[in-house]
Amino acid sequence: MPQPLATRAPAKINLTLHVLGRRADGYHDLVSLVAFAGTGDDLRLDPGPVLALQVAGPTAPQAGSEADNLVLKASRLLAERIAGLKAGTFHLTKRLPVAAGIGGGSSDAAAALRLLARLNDLPLSHSALHEAARLTGADVPVCLEPRARIMRGAGEELGLPLNLPRLFAVLVNPRVPVETPAVFKALGLQPGQDLRGTVHPDLAGASSGSLLSSLKAARNDLEAPAMSLQPVIGEALDLMRQTENCRLARMSGSGATVFGLYDHCEAAAAAAKRIQSKRPHWWVKATSLR
Ligand code: C5P
Repeated sequence: MPQPLATRAPAKINLTLHVLGRRADGYHDLVSLVAFAGTGDDLRLDPGPVLALQVAGPTAPQAGSEADNLVLKASRLLAERIAGLKAGTFHLTKRLPVAAGIGGGSSDAAAALRLLARLNDLPLSHSALHEAARLTGADVPVCLEPRARIMRGAGEELGLPLNLPRLFAVLVNPRVPVETPAVFKALGLQPGQDLRGTVHPDLAGASSGSLLSSLKAARNDLEAPAMSLQPVIGEALDLMRQTENCRLARMSGSGATVFGLYDHCEAAAAAAKRIQSKRPHWWVKATSLR
């Protein structure tokens, strides 16, 4: 019997997210600098005759039914494209909050595709993997090879991997789920509407200092609509900004998770401790970024 295979499904952080307009198909055209955290879910694949999934871990109760999980959706989409695809039983350890703007489900689906690629000797560049990723969800392609990069379109256009300067982050989720379609809807754009004049700073190749000033000049356009639906996001941002040495505080994706950036690991750890002591029931995590 082949050995089990395992991979981390890291949290995806949108360091910037500019909405450029709404397409005729209803999706929004974006430009976003995406990075990945050290923290995440864990996925194991026990090779076997049937495709199956078992979910455990602290946030498993919020993850919904296993049948609806994106791990199975992505795997089935790949099986439809690769004749005789070898699969097995996935064991997902769910730690990330669900419907949280940090791509938990998308990263899990991408991790499943990585494990299936390994089991079946498929290169990660294989078009079937990218097609299965795209059809699973807008954020899945960027999670396939979790390296910082610029993402455009509805997530299907990916830039080359970027070497970000060393940065540390605190992630805070006030434990309110946010549905992505509701946030995009609250933006209020009509199909075909173009946000002319939207600019996104050039973030490739920036050093730590210049990256931070570029990030400060950017924004997350979904922050205001998400806050209109869940005002507690504003409270999380305020608490983050009040921590010592916080260089930038912003929401990720469609929320509700917010991140703070710090130059040093100790500063991030101290900030996480302080926020957790003020809001014991929130999900708070200090982590690295890459
Ligand atoms: O592709 P995914 O299922 O993750 O997207 C969820 C929803 O978020 C879409 O149905 C759409 O309403 C919205 N969305 C969007 N523009 C994007 C990504 C997502 O309008 N670029």
